[in-house]
Amino acid sequence: MSFIKETEEYLKIVLKKCNYEIDEVVLESSSRRDLGEFQINCSMNLAKKYGKNPREIAQEIVKNLDDRFKNVNIAGPGFINVSISDKYLLKTMNKSINDFDTLIDKKNSKKIIIDYGGANAAKALHVGHMRSANIGEALKRLSIVLGNNTIGDVHLGDLGRQSGMVISEIKKRKPDLCYFDSNYNGDYPKLEITPEELAEYYPCANADAKENPERMEEVRKITALVDEQKEPFFSMWKDIVEVSSKEIKKVYNYLNCNFELWEGELSSLKYIDDTLKVLSPYMYESDGAKVIDVANENDKIEIPPLIVIKNDGASIYATRDLSTLYHRMKEYNPDEIWYVVDARQGLYFEQVFRASYKSKLVKKETELYHYYFGTMNGKDGKPFKTRDGGVLQLDDLLAMIKDELSKKMNKYQDNKEKEEILDILTVATVKYADLLPFRTTDYIFDIEKFCSFEGKTGPYILYTMVRIKSILEKTNCKNIVLNEIYGETERNIYIKILELSRILNKAYNEKTLSYICEYLFEICSLFNKFYSECSIINEEDVKKKDNYISMLTLIYNVCSKLLDILAIKIPNRM
Ligand code: ARG
Repeated sequence: MSFIKETEEYLKIVLKKCNYEIDEVVLESSSRRDLGEFQINCSMNLAKKYGKNPREIAQEIVKNLDDRFKNVNIAGPGFINVSISDKYLLKTMNKSINDFDTLIDKKNSKKIIIDYGGANAAKALHVGHMRSANIGEALKRLSIVLGNNTIGDVHLGDLGRQSGMVISEIKKRKPDLCYFDSNYNGDYPKLEITPEELAEYYPCANADAKENPERMEEVRKITALVDEQKEPFFSMWKDIVEVSSKEIKKVYNYLNCNFELWEGELSSLKYIDDTLKVLSPYMYESDGAKVIDVANENDKIEIPPLIVIKNDGASIYATRDLSTLYHRMKEYNPDEIWYVVDARQGLYFEQVFRASYKSKLVKKETELYHYYFGTMNGKDGKPFKTRDGGVLQLDDLLAMIKDELSKKMNKYQDNKEKEEILDILTVATVKYADLLPFRTTDYIFDIEKFCSFEGKTGPYILYTMVRIKSILEKTNCKNIVLNEIYGETERNIYIKILELSRILNKAYNEKTLSYICEYLFEICSLFNKFYSECSIINEEDVKKKDNYISMLTLIYNVCSKLLDILAIKIPNRM
């Protein structure tokens, strides 16, 4: 249990002793450090409840506080300011050096599925996919740290127009392949296609089909055949997805994203029949399509019916999300499902969620959430585009950042090491920049700012971590234990560490990593202040030096754990 929670429990006991009943006492971090490190503000509420003077109540409480606090004083109408006694602070910190769990409060464990990533097979990942991957992975890790049974599913976009595009491009380039010969009646071989070919095909076909209605018609037809699982196209497409999946996994790997489930639209096809059985009492025909009404009386905006089956009888994106839900409920029966997907799909998810509850595809106890995120904009405030006006692809974004960072790293002789460090740094840079703004806020892509070694950036945090690591490697302290607090900055570091549980809870409740990013920056800044004030390595007083090293160990352990939640790795040197 965290210090804050434990103290709040303790305060409840104190109040009980004074014969006051209260549901919740909050130990607030104080903004007026000169008055105290924390504040207890319950006297005012109790005064109202018991018809007493709040200052008197505060005095009564203060009389009963034990020696975990120091500098206890009452301010204004009855605010109780307290600081933590050195002994208690050190005891708490010593427990935390090797046990992160003593700094946090675990939740009542829930079963949660997080749907994030959402890359589309045979197409390049774009920045929106990266945001989903970064946020989803970090929320998943946070949820696990807080005690939930949490798994992630990539929900690959492996059906749709891109199947028609790629197969039509294969047909154009290799018309003699047996798949396109209507007189062929042997077995169809596995399709041979390289990742390089694949990367080229979709953009080519897409550009051509945009200009050429006949080509588009062909694409549409092939797409429909794949959706209807007609051979040989369906198997061809599955072969393409296999090749593409390997490439997509490499990208996610690079971003330190691991999915427990690698499911997608394609794998949901097997549950469509069962899903439609559940939905059928609620579906009706409209213009040849099958739809479900999902509007409510109190809707402020119009929520149109959800199309479940298109007028040509084919399944669509929604059908596959519904059948994925069918499968998830049956297989995992989760308490919650979170969709970490672009804000533009907000109305769509509202429709899908309503249809799912209405048809009881999802039981009412299971909570479905769409945790959307803001857009990454260019300096003009519009969604970041490439020079030719296209959507920025993830590969290009990462290359730009790596290039910028590379300019700052010229001290490396060994190219292999430089590459490794650069890759870790690139991911850290992009992730920190991506996770720092509040989840739903749009932010501006500013490469110089993101890559700077100063300020709220990935490089600054990692640079600090590497600095601590190198000090720890250069010194050797056998007994990692904190015995004394020598200065104000150390104290501030410890108090900051005490606040960690609150930061994690806030991040979890609001599903944003911004608080953790800010917190990391604060701790790193405090450490760097300490570093400039004290000479650690050259400290002659061995006791003092050991104490410093112990504190550094604590900071390093806490920050590594937080970076691990953000899925950011720490290089050995920089
Ligand atoms: N593949 C989709 C896209 O690129 C995202 C998938 C989101 N998840 C879901 N269950 N619909 O827009």
